[in-house]
Amino acid sequence: MTLAEKTNITCGSGYDMGRCVGNSGSALRVGLPQLCLQDSALGIRNSDHNTAFPAGITVGATWDKSLTLARGVALGAEFRGKGINVFLGPTVGPLGRKPRGGRNWEGFGADPVLQAVGGALTIQGVQSQGVIATIKHYILNEQEMYRMYSPFQPGYSSNIDDRTLHELYLWPFAEGIRAGVGAVMAAYNAVNGSACSQNSYLLNGILKDELGFQGFVVSDWLAQISGVASSLAGLDMSMPGDGLVPLLGDSYWMYELSRAVLNGTVPVDRLNDMATRIVATWYQMRQDENYPPPNFSTNTEDGTGPLYPGALFSPFGVVNEFVDVQDDHANIARNISRDAITMLKNLNNTLPLQTNASLKIFGTDAQKNPDGINSCSDQGCDKGTLGMGWGSGTARYPYLDSPIDAITSRASNVTFYNSDTFPSGLKAAPRDIALVFINADSGENYITVSSNPGDRTTSGLSAWHNGDALVKAAAATYSTVIVIAHTVGPILLEEWIDLPSVKSVLFAHLPGQEAGESLTAILFGDVSPSGHLPYTIPHTESEYPPSVNLVYFEPGQPQDTYTEGLYIDYRHFNAHNITPRYAFGHGLSYTTFTFTNATITPVTPLTSVPPPRSVKGATPVYSTVIPPTPEAYWPANFPRIWRYLYSWLEESDADAAAAAKTNNYTYPTGYTTTPKPPPPAGGSQGGNPALWDTAYTLSITVTNTGGRPGKAVAQLYVQFPANITYDTPLIQLRDFAKTRELGMGESEVLSMNVTRKDLSVWDTELQDWVIPDVGRSYTVWIGEASDNLGWACWTGNGVCEGGLGGPNV
Ligand code: NOJ
Repeated sequence: MTLAEKTNITCGSGYDMGRCVGNSGSALRVGLPQLCLQDSALGIRNSDHNTAFPAGITVGATWDKSLTLARGVALGAEFRGKGINVFLGPTVGPLGRKPRGGRNWEGFGADPVLQAVGGALTIQGVQSQGVIATIKHYILNEQEMYRMYSPFQPGYSSNIDDRTLHELYLWPFAEGIRAGVGAVMAAYNAVNGSACSQNSYLLNGILKDELGFQGFVVSDWLAQISGVASSLAGLDMSMPGDGLVPLLGDSYWMYELSRAVLNGTVPVDRLNDMATRIVATWYQMRQDENYPPPNFSTNTEDGTGPLYPGALFSPFGVVNEFVDVQDDHANIARNISRDAITMLKNLNNTLPLQTNASLKIFGTDAQKNPDGINSCSDQGCDKGTLGMGWGSGTARYPYLDSPIDAITSRASNVTFYNSDTFPSGLKAAPRDIALVFINADSGENYITVSSNPGDRTTSGLSAWHNGDALVKAAAATYSTVIVIAHTVGPILLEEWIDLPSVKSVLFAHLPGQEAGESLTAILFGDVSPSGHLPYTIPHTESEYPPSVNLVYFEPGQPQDTYTEGLYIDYRHFNAHNITPRYAFGHGLSYTTFTFTNATITPVTPLTSVPPPRSVKGATPVYSTVIPPTPEAYWPANFPRIWRYLYSWLEESDADAAAAAKTNNYTYPTGYTTTPKPPPPAGGSQGGNPALWDTAYTLSITVTNTGGRPGKAVAQLYVQFPANITYDTPLIQLRDFAKTRELGMGESEVLSMNVTRKDLSVWDTELQDWVIPDVGRSYTVWIGEASDNLGWACWTGNGVCEGGLGGPNV
């Protein structure tokens, strides 16, 4: 490839300069097309004839690995069908450290393992279809406000210690890399003072060296803030290609990167590495074999339009071909939405309902947005049924099966009050049952909804549209009230949860297009609820550590310091003996399960650190000679489009760059081209492969002992030996498994694994994963929720015991 071909493929062609949200430059002479990069993690953004899948948080709430994988496969098939090369998902950061954080719902839950399993299975599914997945946002993008650098203000700095980084926030990325993810998106914010898109420690060091990431690092959109520095720091692709202010058609890379290579500032082998990572990923996904070109446009719903909407003058042409990629994916979407529904409370077996019950339905969340299901761009409003949050992490709905549609088609005696204000003068008949729909929304920072700039600043953790008042009014009138919540994350329930008439509460999370039948299947008892909370619900916000509050404007760089360390969500509640309203992992069923016959089997004997990694493999060897200057010249008579980004230079510019080569560019302190010794924690994709040695296999028999069919979830938490030298959370989720639907009396044996990494802590001095005290006994807890762990197995003596009260007792 020529210099200009290589610099062209490492950068986008500019904001709105193609059909997709990101369009890289091509190298057509050697067969590499422009790559189409497109959101979102839950379905194709701004398109048509696509499925609007349930959001990540909903997938997390299923605790179902096979449904998670199936969704990934279906997403991959849809993205491929639209000609998208790069899927901009999964989202595993934010992890959910801040309950008010705007984009937590794009991920799978506030625990590294739940998040990691969701991310890795999505990657496997998507990439099985030949689509490159992008794990994002690397890293510590835990709130929306002040995330971006601008000419006036740097994005906030997330300040973290090495151990917390490794044990919580990096964990899902490591698992995604182990799953073979093709791309990683560098986040907007800074970490420890250095912007993620040019943080050499994070990109060159942790990601590429320690975690052995072989694919390419792409910037979040307009997150690149320098040319030479970002390239030296390990960024491989800039999106959408423009500089910080995307107005004038200038870029930090493209023609500037050509210049920087010609004048010797950016070493040729760095450019070769960038290009290799992109081309190799494309080949690895076999996109050289009949991969379809894009057949849709993210910019318009019309069939024809400007080919380069970002240009002042653009040729017109066909931009949308309306290809239907939905297949039968609605079934997968519906099954996930149904199996995610989490029953928090159900007194007197109020649920399930009879279809002839007298149902009084309240709340605008029960019905579609009357202005149209896609009337708000990127779902930037909260009107009607909430199927997803807002921002780039969304898709247009092909349809929205709303709760009220599904309920009225199923039940015979339904009255719907499509309002969030309780109607005055209603009198309840004794058998009336009130169903109250409430919701809570959040999203991405470029849209503000009801004074919430992405994060839930104004609404706090309360239900929107006075949902609490609606529930209380219904509870004052009716003796049986069922609350159904569509929510991005935890909401406070205290104003009404203990009212005597509030009998049942269902969290339906964010169901996407399948909000209706998925809910009626639970309401009317076709299936038992089997979702479990992917986060903790507190009584009040003050139960959280104060350091997880949102940070606001401060002159200079806003500082967000992770003083709580490892103690977020249930790790914090356990450490401080706070009993939350509903614990992480909680979720009820219409039936009951017993767990019996737990076993623990040692597999790989452990040593305090993993065995030494293998030596680094060879890397491709290319010439490091600066290419001939004419490789960067504009071709003769090239029809240039204004604002479009090109990698060529005027002849005089290119010649001047080559002439200016002096070899005396001052590189940042510490810059060296001599490789450091390979990190012991590395060795393969994700880290030292021995970290995934199975240390113990556990099994447990789950029996349905109740009166209805249902699915159970077994959750496995590790408790480190007491009094080790490292302070560790009381229990940490390490694996989980879900049964098939068990008939009454039926059993299934579930097995789960504990790896070496699961039993290790990150030692900041050794820079390795360490088993604190080899030979000491760990307790492995198994149960139905983080606060309902009846079984313990001890690694020391291989004994398991049931009927226990959990680690707190
Ligand atoms: C910014 C968002 O943070 C990211 O998630 C998204 O993929 C890009 N914009 C492209 O839309």
